[in-house]
Amino acid sequence: MSLPADFHSWAHAQQSRIESTLQGVLPSPDIAPRRLHQAMRYAVLGGGKRVRPLLAFAAGELARADAGRVAIAGAAVEMIHAYSLTHDDLPCMDDDVLRRGRPTCHVEFDEATALLVGDALQSLAFQLVAEYRLADDPAVQLEMVKLLAAAAGSRGMAGGQAIDLEAVGKTLSVPELEFMHIHKTGALIRAATLLGARCGNSLDDRALGQLDNFAKCVGLAFQVVDDVLDAEASTATLGKTAGKDAQQDKATYVSVMGVAESRSLAGELRQEALKALEEFGDQALRLRQLADFIVLRKF
Ligand code: IPE
Ligand code: IPE
Ligand code: MG
Ligand code: MG
Ligand code: MG
Repeated sequence: MSLPADFHSWAHAQQSRIESTLQGVLPSPDIAPRRLHQAMRYAVLGGGKRVRPLLAFAAGELARADAGRVAIAGAAVEMIHAYSLTHDDLPCMDDDVLRRGRPTCHVEFDEATALLVGDALQSLAFQLVAEYRLADDPAVQLEMVKLLAAAAGSRGMAGGQAIDLEAVGKTLSVPELEFMHIHKTGALIRAATLLGARCGNSLDDRALGQLDNFAKCVGLAFQVVDDVLDAEASTATLGKTAGKDAQQDKATYVSVMGVAESRSLAGELRQEALKALEEFGDQALRLRQLADFIVLRKF
């Protein structure tokens, strides 16, 4: 199965939009402290699939949101994501030298700078969602800030990363593995989707709940596929060092159930995600295509 050309042109247009939004909101490399600002731009710009902003745009289309608002929300999530990657690659975590086809931030700059890049990107993300008008109702916008904070924190991405590190060398049960993945990766994917939707007004609480069910499934599927690709794809295709999970004795879906079963689980999660979108009909076309992309991707 392959995705239609029209999906690729849509995705390309949204990727360009998010790139220019990020370009515009990141501090100029000429402003002091220059090295930190250069490193922040290095960590964020010019790479990555931009899956989280794409989900925000697709959910925003469903909720008839203003695309300029969604671009800011998507940029905020992408900054938290880029910070999480920068820290994930540090020697005290996964100790990786290659990211998005280039040396990791701490290799290109230094460890202290990479640490500060993460700190500063996280702050900037919250500054964006506080500073720009993203929802008509200020109370909704405040909920959006809380949503992002919860997704990034100890009960979201950062907590998932803690579990990931504690699990090295251990055999996790499938529920434990799911708990870890839902947090380290699923949380930000859910936040991206819901933030995109909340930039618009057209979805009621029940519809938002359905969208959340979709996002939960694709969030977990995303990390299951990441585990599979680590085992199956090449460093050149991934733009990050392949085979690292086995080398570092990480607890992954592949280490627990093998590649074939992991792939079939990702397929089941895709079906579940598509089911959650049924009531939206044609309006959810881009979200459906993104679920396909997340499960079928080769990088
Ligand atoms: C990699 O994320 C880390 C995970 C959370 C699995 P992506 O695969 O989205 O990385 P980029 O942004 O495309 O580089
Ligand atoms: C990282 O998971 C998830 C994050 C929160 C960054 P991985 O450690 O598997 O991500 P990669 O494979 O290095 O991109
Ligand atoms: Mg990791
Ligand atoms: Mg890693
Ligand atoms: Mg990985």
